Order: sequence, then structure tokens, then C-alpha cells
Amino acid sequence: MAVYALPLFAYVLGGLLASVAAQSEYGQCGGIGWTGGITCPTGWVCTDLNPYYSQCLQDTSSGTTTAAPTSTSAPSSTSTSATSTLTGIAASAPTIGPSHDVGKLPALGWNSWNAYGCNINETKVLNAANQFISLGLADAGYEYINIDDCWPLTTRDASTGRIVPDPSKFPNGISGVAEKVHALGFKFGIYSDAGTATCAGFPGSLGNEELDAATFAEWGVDYLKYDNCNVPGNWSDAGNPPGGDWYNSNSAIRYRQMTAAMNETGRPFHFSLCIWGNANVWDWGARVGHSWRMSGDSSASWSYITSIITTNVQHLDSIDFYSHNDMDMMEIGNGALTIQEQRTHFAAWVFLKSPILLGTDLSLLNSTQLDIITNPELLAFHQDATIGTPAAPFTPTAGATTPSPPEFYAGTSSKGTHVFVINTNSTALTKTFDFANVPGLGSGSFVVHDMWTGKDLGTFTTSYSTTVDTHDTAALFIKPA
Ligand SMILES: *[C@@H]1O[C@H](CO)[C@@H](O)[C@H](O)[C@H]1NC(C)=O
Ligand SMILES: *[C@@H]1O[C@H](CO)[C@@H](O)[C@H](O)[C@H]1NC(C)=O
Ligand SMILES: *[C@@H]1O[C@H](CO)[C@@H](O)[C@H](O)[C@H]1NC(C)=O
Ligand SMILES: *[C@@H]1O[C@H](CO)[C@@H](O)[C@H](O)[C@H]1NC(C)=O
Ligand SMILES: *[C@@H]1O[C@H](CO)[C@@H](O)[C@H](O)[C@H]1NC(C)=O
Repeated sequence: MAVYALPLFAYVLGGLLASVAAQSEYGQCGGIGWTGGITCPTGWVCTDLNPYYSQCLQDTSSGTTTAAPTSTSAPSSTSTSATSTLTGIAASAPTIGPSHDVGKLPALGWNSWNAYGCNINETKVLNAANQFISLGLADAGYEYINIDDCWPLTTRDASTGRIVPDPSKFPNGISGVAEKVHALGFKFGIYSDAGTATCAGFPGSLGNEELDAATFAEWGVDYLKYDNCNVPGNWSDAGNPPGGDWYNSNSAIRYRQMTAAMNETGRPFHFSLCIWGNANVWDWGARVGHSWRMSGDSSASWSYITSIITTNVQHLDSIDFYSHNDMDMMEIGNGALTIQEQRTHFAAWVFLKSPILLGTDLSLLNSTQLDIITNPELLAFHQDATIGTPAAPFTPTAGATTPSPPEFYAGTSSKGTHVFVINTNSTALTKTFDFANVPGLGSGSFVVHDMWTGKDLGTFTTSYSTTVDTHDTAALFIKPA
């Protein structure tokens, strides 16, 4: 695993001078196999991102937000004029953007991590691809079959320096899997890390970007998820970046190096920045990749679903074609989410245009779950080729207060206006909105249509009321009567 910059924080505690070895900001502070320190600097909290990696992240619970990832960065116009005055690595870092031959719409696919963690192999990946066909997911538009962490051996090839697929997991190599995935009609994704090692301790690509991008291109890879573990101290961001623009932060530059390396291969890659919402990524992500994670790893819990919606609604301006806030992989089929919570999970990822990467053993999904993830009207909103913006919160009736996360969202598709209503309460409630309050509708009579069932619910004037089950989401298409 990586070597960390030595922590340099001293604390005065209760009148005693004590020197506490704290990890650096964004440094690792725990996880399977971790033997280093577990203390974070003041104002930073050791946060479990997955079983293999805990990291010092800023404590946002106290309401104190300091500089780094939560502050508003300088407008990009400043950055352009500041470019000439940049020094060090920021002055010479590549500025090439991601391919626009791919990644216009949020990705639809499957990823191995939530289902299998490190326990992956060729059979499981190809099963998922075959299930895309047998379960109707291919027809619904699911496209990517992606392998997450733990696919290679722990050391690179001694003579070529290349990452080596683990032959016990992938006896035909990664190229063998990619070839079979392509033959079934799908695109193929892989995983690496913008640090010295992945979160589970396999080789990372920092400093090997060109070799690894060339290797992935040669293998037929179409999509790269690029994680953020094991970042050497001199590559993390301790304070504000040069010129106040997070595009020039060390974090962004680690990702920019891979964008440039992928460009050099001549193969279009869909680039997914797994940067956990650090470094104001929503401000610059579209200049570097197609989607970017807004948080640490998801969990199969209602609290994760509500917290990531709360985070994402603060950054909806970043979402458009080729530019997607990633709410992380799906948990439908995992844990103890109720079917209502699974519907909200899917609907929120749809109306906020997050990538939707299924994360379960697809053979275990029942027909209700399959109906959710293949719902044609919700998927049409998500994959709309003419409107790239997401739904956004609105005030349903005069004077209504907006809870956190908001419960009422309105959005536009090529068909017209849609309203999504989440019930975050722990009891079923009647939810009401006035048509005049829905952006773009105005007053009058409207036919309200249920996107889940594909049926019209009737014609209504002034307002619409419906009972929404606890933790469920109503998905409505509203057309003039
Ligand atoms: C590489 O970048 C150039 C310049 O932006 C662009 O025209 C080209 O399509 C890119 N190629 C790939 C494979 O991303
Ligand atoms: C993958 O793992 C499954 C379950 O452990 C096993 O049945 C299968 O043979 C394995 N396939 C490969 C290629 O190792
Ligand atoms: C960190 O140190 C490595 C090794 O000296 C160097 O290659 C790299 O450019 C440094 N990173 C930054 C952001 O200065
Ligand atoms: C599928 O599982 C969910 C729980 O995840 C359950 O609520 C639903 O009734 C099940 N559907 C069928 C058809 O068994
Ligand atoms: C949620 O339910 C509780 C108890 O049933 C109630 O006191 C509360 O007012 C409800 N919240 C909203 C926003 O309706």
C-alpha cells in the first residue's frame, strides 16, 4: 500500500503539550489491512468509504465549512486568465477534455462491486452480461458491463510494467472478457485509481497513466472508473488550489493526467471520476470526464438515499449532456430496502440524471424489482436525447416549506413536464401541488399520467393530490387537458 506524508499536527490538550500523529487531510485512516494512524486533523473526520478504505474528510456535521471541497470556487473565467500565472505542476498539466463521442447521456449498466466486492471473476461478469439479455435489461437500454476493484495481481509485470489481470479470476485475461462482452452487444468497463494503489491495494495508475490507458485501450475497454485511494501526500490538497480554481488542484490534475492519456490512445473512453465529492469536482468535472461521484460509497439504506439527494440538489447546475453528478451505484436487490425505497432510489437517480449502474446479482431480482429498473417512461426521462437537465425542487403550494431533502421536483423531457414527489415521512401522506407552482405549467386543466404504470389518472384543475406511501415516489407526466 501507499506511503503517506507524515502528519504534522500538534495539539495542546488540557494544558499538556501532546504531539498527536494525525493523518493528513484526505489521508487514509482505516480499512481492512490498514496499520497506520486513525486520527484526523481538527475539523476532519475519519469516514468509512468502503471496507477497505477510510479517509479523513472534512467534518460537515458541525456546520463549519472551511475552504477546500465545499467552498465555492472562483468562476472559470478567472481561471482562464490565471492560467498564464500558474506555477509548478498546475502550469504544465494537460488540459485536454474527455471524448464527446461517448458519455452524452448518463451511463446505464452494471458494476460488480456492490454485488461481489473483491470476490469477482469472469463467470460472474459474463453472467451479468447474459442476464442483461435474458432479463430484458438490454432492451431497456442497459449498456455497460463494468468490473470494479480487485481484478489484477498485486504487482505489475516486472519487465513490461503493465498491470496483470489475476489469471485465477480472469483465465482469459481482461481482453478475453471484453471480447465476450462486446460479442453480446455491450460496452465494457474497468477500474483503476488516481493514486499509487487502489482502495483494495492493487496497482494504481498515478504515474503510469499512459501505459495503463494504452493497456486498457488495447484490451478493448470502453469505460474507466477512476478511484481516489492511496494518494501520496504531495498529491493531495491541503489548502486552496492555485488561483482559487479547483480545476488546478492536485486532485483535478491527477484525473486530468488520465484524461490526456486516454485521449492519446485514440479510443473514446467514458471517464467516471470516483472522487467522492472532493475538490469541488462539480465545478470542473465536465472538463475532465463524463461523471463524478458526489460522495463516499453508497449503502443499501434509506439514510444513504436521502443524504445523497440532499447533497446532489445543491449542485444541479452541473448536470447536462456529458456532465453528470454520480450518486453511486444502485443498491436495488441488496440489503433491507423496502420496495418503496427501491422505487425512490431508482426514481431519484433517474430525475437527477445520475449514472445508473446496477449493483446486485441480477439473477436474484424479482419481477417487481425488474419492473422498476426497466420502467420505460422513467428510463426515457433519464435517457432523453434532447433535454439534458435534471428535475429540480419546486415549492408545491404557496407558503409550503421545503424539507431536506426536498420532496417535490419538476423537470422537462422532450414529451413535456414531469413532477416527482418523494414522501420522506415514515407514514403514508397525501401530497398536493398546485399546477401554477410547477415551473412551465401555469394554471388550467391538466391530464395527470402515472409514469410507473403508464396510465392516465384523470383530468384535474388547479391542483393535484395523491397519497404517497412512506418512502415512495410518485412519478407523473402532466399534459395540458
Ligand atoms: C482527443 O482530443 C482531441 C482534441 O480535443 C479531440 O478532437 C479528439 O476527438 C480526442 N480523442 C479522443 C479519443 O478522445
Ligand atoms: C467464479 O466463481 C464462481 C463462484 O464461486 C465459480 O462457480 C466459478 O467457477 C468461478 N469462475 C472462474 C472463472 O473462476
Ligand atoms: C509528488 O512527488 C512525485 C515524486 O517526486 C512527483 O513526480 C510529483 O510531480 C509530485 N506531485 C506534485 C503535485 O507536485
Ligand atoms: C420483490 O421483493 C420486494 C422486496 O425487495 C417485495 O416487496 C416484493 O413484493 C417482491 N415481489 C415479488 C413479485 O415477489
Ligand atoms: C411526519 O409524520 C409525523 C408523525 O406521523 C408528523 O408529526 C409530521 O408532521 C410529519 N411530517 C410531515 C412533513 O408531514
